[in-house]
Amino acid sequence: MSKLTGKVAVVTGASKGIGAAIAKSFAAAGASVVVNYASSKEGADKVVAEITKAGGKAVAVGGSVAKPAEAQGIIDAAIKSFGKLDVLVNNSGVYEFGPIEAITPEHFHKQFDVNVLGLLLVTQAAVKHLPKGGSIINIGSLVSRITPPASAVYTATKGAVDAITGVLSLELGSRGIRVNALNPGLVETEGTHTAGFIGSDFDKQHAASVPLGRIGQPQDIADAAVFLASDDSGWINGQLINAAGGAR
Ligand SMILES: NC(=O)c1ccc[n+]([C@@H]2O[C@H](COP(=O)([O-])OP(=O)(O)OC[C@H]3O[C@@H](n4cnc5c(N)ncnc54)[C@H](OP(=O)(O)O)[C@@H]3O)[C@@H](O)[C@H]2O)c1
Repeated sequence: MSKLTGKVAVVTGASKGIGAAIAKSFAAAGASVVVNYASSKEGADKVVAEITKAGGKAVAVGGSVAKPAEAQGIIDAAIKSFGKLDVLVNNSGVYEFGPIEAITPEHFHKQFDVNVLGLLLVTQAAVKHLPKGGSIINIGSLVSRITPPASAVYTATKGAVDAITGVLSLELGSRGIRVNALNPGLVETEGTHTAGFIGSDFDKQHAASVPLGRIGQPQDIADAAVFLASDDSGWINGQLINAAGGAR
């Protein structure tokens, strides 16, 4: 039996990048997966097609995590499609770096709305269904520990994710629901390519600071997420786990 056989998982922001790798790895480990997307229907459909072709089960579900009705709709889709929910991965995220002089209310709300409010809204909808033994995995970031310059708003969102993880691990622990954060260092994704990080000085400096000598790939994060979703991590709760090749 595979590690996630019989489980139903929602992965937000799974049309590309880290979320897509997590969705595919979950399905390969036996879970039925809701592949959420905000704007990239084509990307989500491709992830679902790959899963289905490999013999797995998945559905693509559109919706912004930052809008209450749509966040609720993502969870409703899991119940409608697969009858229950065991695992939630709050992966959807946006990152926009800039110095203190460049911070605007728009820059602030864009990132806090998705990375923090969106995480809370989807979690709120999910906890009505998560059973004893359920697992919530919040994708945070190593930035909350290394606080890189010119990232005040993004780093603040991920500091909030760390804090929420601690709070909810205590709040939901008595219901047998585990809540952990998985905090990657720099990972090569569509998002980090578009943001210009890959190949930049930041990329080179980060790679040089990683004891394992390279930046991350989405599969590195997905492998750790399978563990946190599975009963193998049943005694791990309220942890902020860096997945960064030893960078800290
Ligand atoms: N890559 C890194 O170096 C790195 C490092 C540490 C932490 N992280 C975190 O890991 C997560 C994924 O990052 P990534 O690099 O894989 O990003 P990415 O390649 O840019 O993909 C982002 C995903 O989030 C989705 N998304 C954006 N806004 C959304 C919304 N309002 N509602 C629902 N989904 C939304 C996107 O959906 P659409 O494409 O459909 O719009 C996409 O599927 C983020 O939380 C990020 O902060 C990334």
